[in-house]
Amino acid sequence: MTYVAVLGFGTVGSGVVEIINNNSFINKAGGELTVKAILDIRDFTDSPYAQLFTKDFDAILNDKEISIVVETIGGINPAYEYTLKALKSGKSVVTSNKELVATYGAELMRVARENNAVYLFEASVGGGIPIIRPLNNCLAANDIEEIMGILNGTTNYILTQMIKNGVSFEKALSDAQEKGYAERNPEADIEGHDTCRKIAILSALSYGKQIDSNLIPTEGITKITLEDVAYAQSMDCAIKLIGYSKKVNGGVYARVSPMMLSKDHPLAGVEDVFNAILVKGSATGDVMFYGKGAGKMPTASAVVADCIDIVKHKSLGAPFWEDGGELVFDIDFEDNFYLRVAAGDKQRCESAAQAVFGKVRWLDSNEKEVAFVTGKMTDKAFKEGVEKFETLVGSENILGKIRVLI
Ligand code: HSE
Repeated sequence: MTYVAVLGFGTVGSGVVEIINNNSFINKAGGELTVKAILDIRDFTDSPYAQLFTKDFDAILNDKEISIVVETIGGINPAYEYTLKALKSGKSVVTSNKELVATYGAELMRVARENNAVYLFEASVGGGIPIIRPLNNCLAANDIEEIMGILNGTTNYILTQMIKNGVSFEKALSDAQEKGYAERNPEADIEGHDTCRKIAILSALSYGKQIDSNLIPTEGITKITLEDVAYAQSMDCAIKLIGYSKKVNGGVYARVSPMMLSKDHPLAGVEDVFNAILVKGSATGDVMFYGKGAGKMPTASAVVADCIDIVKHKSLGAPFWEDGGELVFDIDFEDNFYLRVAAGDKQRCESAAQAVFGKVRWLDSNEKEVAFVTGKMTDKAFKEGVEKFETLVGSENILGKIRVLI
């Protein structure tokens, strides 16, 4: 029998307790799992598990029978302190907490090793999609060259609702919150921070070193309008929030931003709460992972699978990376860019666009604005171009700016 303590009885934590209590298949997995304690600051007197609740973390820490601690509190505090203490006392920790893994992953995995324990986090990226273990094990023979993914279920759900059903941003967000997809503070979803933490985790695992997720250029979906969506559709594109990273000389290039993807792109058809991750391996070429990226049961499934892995395999070969990864910001990689501009004088605006960006592709627009797609250019050249363009047309007139992959 393996005794588990669950820290945090929110969406994911309650799903973990439900799965462990309702699934006899765990018995076949090489040992039975039992939830012995649940830590939460709130009272759950009506819960069927009422007798398991405690507010005292030390009681869990000092319980020698508990060998696995599931941390589904989220955020840094007190999750970091509890995780560190549990690992130092030789308990293994399983988590869905991407912020903690992205920030302190290297340290926590090192402490786990030093104390003959493991720190597992399959649920931290892609919800129910197996991605951490496949990257760590199945693709181990590859140099991972590039990762591109839809890594946030909430924003993909919002974009799908806006695009397919004409639902407003606010209504789609409140639906996502109701369905248990969104973070406690949904700003982390819509401003791209959640995607940023996930691409930081995948990059650290794939390229071997922790990178500072706070430094990754990150833009969310709050500036996307239904007009942008319509322009994208006119080019046979879908707008997706993309986490991207690439191994380059001297470190890792990474970014989070909305992108217009041609409908032929494998990520363009990924809708609703689904996530998908495209990984380029040196031997395999492209490999794609797809499934539900958020929600109670898909995420809890990944957490419980990690617990089973500990029971079954003592988690030999658990993921590991070191501190000290470097981010690289300027690479000579080129993309196209879409710009939408309010134009009192359309002709003047079109001449300015041509003067700065050269030959561009014009999109059909109404009489009050212009929209176009630039030729291929580097991030640096585009940034400089926009600055110059702003001096000609006025920065307040730039209505939209999105990277395009066609
Ligand atoms: N808020 C996250 C999302 C939860 O929407 O993807 C899963 O990490």
